[in-house]
Amino acid sequence: MDRPVPIAEIIEGRHSGRTVTVRGWVHRKRIVGGKAFILVRQEGEVLQCVYDKAEVGQRVWEEAEKVTLESSVVVRGTVREDPRAPGGYELRGEDLEIVGLSADFPIKGGESIEYLLDHRHLWLRSRRLTWVMKVKHSVMQAARRYFIDNGWWEVTPPILTGSAVEGGATLFELKYFGSKAYLSQSAQLYLEVLIYPLEKVWAVTPSFRAEKSRTRRHLAEYWHLEAEAAWMDMWDMMRIVEELVKHVLERVLEERRRELENLGRSLEPLKRAVEERFPAIRYDEAIEILQKKGVEIEWGDDMGADEERELTKEFETPFFVTHFPKQIKAFYMKLDPEDSRLALGFDLLAPEGYGEIVGGSQREDDYDTLLSRILEEGLDPEDYDWYLDLRKYGTVPHSGFGLGLERLVMWIAGLDHIRDATPMPRYRGRIKP
Ligand code: 4AD
Ligand code: MG
Repeated sequence: MDRPVPIAEIIEGRHSGRTVTVRGWVHRKRIVGGKAFILVRQEGEVLQCVYDKAEVGQRVWEEAEKVTLESSVVVRGTVREDPRAPGGYELRGEDLEIVGLSADFPIKGGESIEYLLDHRHLWLRSRRLTWVMKVKHSVMQAARRYFIDNGWWEVTPPILTGSAVEGGATLFELKYFGSKAYLSQSAQLYLEVLIYPLEKVWAVTPSFRAEKSRTRRHLAEYWHLEAEAAWMDMWDMMRIVEELVKHVLERVLEERRRELENLGRSLEPLKRAVEERFPAIRYDEAIEILQKKGVEIEWGDDMGADEERELTKEFETPFFVTHFPKQIKAFYMKLDPEDSRLALGFDLLAPEGYGEIVGGSQREDDYDTLLSRILEEGLDPEDYDWYLDLRKYGTVPHSGFGLGLERLVMWIAGLDHIRDATPMPRYRGRIKP
């Protein structure tokens, strides 16, 4: 067999007039007036293959009649430009080999979301989900590129852990050789360990949150991109986040423009985010803005999805919110030296209603203050003895952040639910397939 040609190359016009072999799955099929129109799909792209009963041999015509939706096939034919075909090119079919004849495919269109989720292992072949996976691929590659180009070290923190980072309410507990352990909510505490040998570190790991309610933006398992650096304060770390997000957007606009357009995503908000500086407001100002808009919220309340959505209407690019009341943030955040009611934490919120995509902070680097914060939060200092050690042996000002990759993909691809930003979503009540 000749080297099979990717359909993407054909619709880029690189094989016009040539005889090529293509491998893929039957996406659609119809037979009219002695012609079989078979739409073959490969990596989210489709190519129309036309078989003419009068021209192809009997064997090929029989295969064309027999082939069912989602069968895997090898087709061969000549590429012709045709503005009526999807993608502007079609294949004049000469040969057709059925590799795996498909049984009646259970997804035909018009099914409910629950039904489709039960058939996720098959639904993932949809072009829409394929485009989203390609966007995610480019997001992850671009982020990795940013860190490599700027001298950060990639590290591999553990997923099985002995203590909570983000509070006990969302911890998944498991048996660990006769004692208790947890699935990681965040690699942060381990990344803090690793800045002493490596100074600037980052990791992408799965993170787990036993979120009790189902929402459009919470998963039980998600991919967490986290970074931590010695010698950086909160503002330094916010600049890193801004540069990283801009770099990712630039690359995705370059590499995945067609997928974004296919998804119906307007590119303007993404371009604006590359060009304009991300504004920063303090929590105090956020509360004032919300109160002026008639939202019922008091100083000291945490902002949920609804409040964040309201707030995003005031901005056209991603924006930071900083200086939160310490009681709504984690124990490890450094307190503001100018107002000890506040923590030096920041969130980055995506516009267009999306809300939080990054959470970060400067970390408490003073031993006694950290110990009293651990006690205040009702945590057991023994669980954190190793973490406290970092403040005992050569403590250093440092900061870090965590970015939810599915949250970022959700915004970039313009999805209305986070489940489509990951192939096999996990949330309360869903573990299969
Ligand atoms: O704001 P969070 O809880 O912060 C931390 O975990 C810090 N320890 C990170 C750090 O500083 N190294 O989570 C960080 C990000 C959120 O901004 C959000 O994008 C994402 O993780 N996230 C979730 N994504 C999907 N489903 C969930 N249940 C998520 N919870 C948080
Ligand atoms: Mg957060």
